[in-house]
This record gives sequence, structure tokens and C-alpha cells, in this order.
Amino acid sequence: MKNIVLIGFMGTGKTTIGRLLANRLGRPFIDSDKKIEYENGMSIREIFNAYGETYFRQQERSMIARLSHYNSTVIAAGGGVVLSTENMVRLKRNGVIIALTASTETILERTGRRNTRPLLDDFEKREQIVNKLLKERMELYQKADCHIDTSNSSPQQVINEIMFFLRQGGYLRGRS
Ligand code: S3P
Repeated sequence: MKNIVLIGFMGTGKTTIGRLLANRLGRPFIDSDKKIEYENGMSIREIFNAYGETYFRQQERSMIARLSHYNSTVIAAGGGVVLSTENMVRLKRNGVIIALTASTETILERTGRRNTRPLLDDFEKREQIVNKLLKERMELYQKADCHIDTSNSSPQQVINEIMFFLRQGGYLRGRS
């Protein structure tokens, strides 16, 4: 069975929703960033600080290349996964791509809770940076098979919307 891949900007809920969805479907869950952190023995922030974004993107590409060979897995990708066409081609080959979206306000509120995103380090300019990155990436996120706004929905509501889409598309082969 195909993988279910969650993409979307930072703070749209990929990890939370991915874990719940995997639970709901009885499938394994993998968070690509968490796996990169585990294998490097460093947090994403530490990787950015020590080796820079280019190195992180290489790590991300090789992780996605590996994950794209998995089957029947729920995968939460990092927000920047769409920046590489190669990543998206690989993920699409064996997966259905679901983009989670959220308003700038929601993104700022959610990403402001924890200081784990090196791209949003400049506190004074956070809103400007989020808007700029969103503008740059909007078109890339739009290439997903399905889009779900998580701004005003509970995780359960989001899961229900995803389940509806998956059933309609025949991705569950009569299960769940
Ligand atoms: C990034 C998003 C982060 C993480 C890294 C870069 C991005 O993942 O991969 O900080 O470029 O949008 P989340 O989307 O899970 O926060």
C-alpha cells in the first residue's frame, strides 16, 4: 500500500497529525526530521548551527530517498522538503501527498511555543520571514494531492478530513 506523506509549512501540524493518523490506521509513523536528529545524534538546530542549511538539506534528501522505499507508512516530512523536486518525485512515486496548511497567525502562534526552528530565529522578523517563505513555497505545497487547513480545526477534525479524502480516493482499499 502507498505511503501517506504529510507536507506543509512549519507549524501546520504534520507531526501531531501524522502520529494520530498512523494510530488511527494502525500503520507505522516516521517523522523525517526526528529520524535525521536521531541518526546524527544532534537536534535540527544543532545541525544547522554546526554544518549549515546546505548540509541539512543533503541529509534531508538522503533521508527522503530512503523513506520513499517504505510501504504503508505515515511519513511527516520537514517543511522544506518541497524545495527539492527530487524529494517530491520520490515521495509521489510511492505515496499520496497531503498538504497541511494554516494561516500566518496560526503558524506564528504554534512555532512561537518552542524554539526549535532555526529558520525562525530572528524574533523581531519572524512574521516577515514566515510570510516570505510562505510566498516562496506556496506553489510547491499546492502540488500535493489534497490540502487541509488546520488553523481552526481540532486534530480529530483534521484526521476525519484526511480519512474522508483517503476513502474517496480509494487509498485505504476498504480498510478503516
Ligand atoms: C524547515 C522545517 C522544519 C525543519 C527545519 C527546516 C523548513 O521542520 O525541517 O527546521 O525549511 O521549513 P518542521 O516543518 O517539522 O518544523
